[in-house]
Amino acid sequence: MTRPAARGVFVTGTDTGVGKTVVAAALIRALARQGLRVAGMKPVAAGASATPSGLRNADALALMQAANVRAPYDTVNPYCFAAPIAPHIAARDARSAVDIDLIRRRFAELASDADCVVVEGAGGWLTPVSEHASMADVAAALALPVVLVVGLRLGCLNHARLTARALCAHGAGVAGWIGNSIDPAFERAADNIAELESRLQRAAAIVPYASHAPEALELPPAAALHLVARAASSVTQTHCLL
Ligand SMILES: Nc1ncnc2c1ncn2[C@@H]1O[C@H](COP(=O)(O)OP(=O)(O)O)[C@@H](O)[C@H]1O
Ligand SMILES: [Mg+2]
Repeated sequence: MTRPAARGVFVTGTDTGVGKTVVAAALIRALARQGLRVAGMKPVAAGASATPSGLRNADALALMQAANVRAPYDTVNPYCFAAPIAPHIAARDARSAVDIDLIRRRFAELASDADCVVVEGAGGWLTPVSEHASMADVAAALALPVVLVVGLRLGCLNHARLTARALCAHGAGVAGWIGNSIDPAFERAADNIAELESRLQRAAAIVPYASHAPEALELPPAAALHLVARAASSVTQTHCLL
């Protein structure tokens, strides 16, 4: 399938709490250090603090801090809900509705100023954002290939394979996957990574466990550039992930 050249990547994960934000921010920093103009985006966030300027979500702020393209908060994070609950339930409580077309317009504003926009989903690939739409539909509306963050812990083989099948069923493009070492006590981690690589494809990177300051973790520049090059090529496919 041919696709138009993507202006970024959509970072999804095998679950919530697997390191999407840590990896997305590291990806932004690595690309910015290579001279690219990079913006971050968190289209839908649930879990935010009230500030004099309005609600602020920590993921969106982390992506903004990593980015070298400046943008208004509401452009980076058009939908921000206070409660740390499933986004579509938070939206319903707030009598709001996530409009994917508005997300697309905000993305276009960011993309017009950037070489690459790194977009972080909320939760996992099929997290609902409204009664009928999920994060998968947001990624599709933005025409972005996916970077799948696999949280390396017991259960990751199942979660990664389920997500890979869902990506495939959705016809999503895939730029690659990154293993993130979120559990220092994970037994047989190397065997699990080998299993993932044989069932999916080679990992773009394996991020080590950081007992101190995981938010400052770095990605190898070559891995970051490889991911965006694959995202920008028109041949990213999902069948390679199954
Ligand atoms: N490689 C890592 N080493 C140590 N802690 C990590 C690592 N990656 C993520 N974390 C921690 O795990 C938690 C979840 O990470 P986060 O990036 O917020 O996940 P997500 O965005 O998928 O919800 C955070 O507290 C983060 O600091
Ligand atoms: Mg996050």
